[in-house]
Amino acid sequence: MATNRTFTMIKPDAFSAGNAGNILAMIEKAGFRLVAAKITHLSPARAGEFYAVHKERPFYQDLCAYMSSGAIVAAILEKENAVEDFRKLIGATDPKKADAGTVRALYGTSIEANAVHGSDSDENAAIEGSFFFSNLEQF
Ligand code: CMP
Repeated sequence: MATNRTFTMIKPDAFSAGNAGNILAMIEKAGFRLVAAKITHLSPARAGEFYAVHKERPFYQDLCAYMSSGAIVAAILEKENAVEDFRKLIGATDPKKADAGTVRALYGTSIEANAVHGSDSDENAAIEGSFFFSNLEQF
């Protein structure tokens, strides 16, 4: 059964360009409640841990370097059918292929600097949320 939470990061490109506020506004306008959110900075090692599932992919080293290159926003979001609806809101991984009006089409600049991350399953949403927030029972 689908849970009602997903996890997102606003990535360094979008954060440093001053788009975090606009992206959070889009997320809230689409009906998601912010359950938890913080501005933080991943070390290369923590970025590697977060993206460990992509360890064997050719873009892994670049991805870790990029994700640790600046501040990010990490957030847990709540809405019915959260994982699927959020992936629709953000669009395809490659901003060039993302539908018009999606977050990545509006704010992404490349497949790597694609503005936001969104969990791909309920299971990963829970794992990824716990990676950044240790006191979830409070929310
Ligand atoms: P994200 O949704 O955060 O999950 C994994 C990330 O790896 C993805 O967004 C992209 O930023 C990045 N990524 C995926 N595919 C590629 C690729 N082919 N080249 C470079 N980066 C990629």
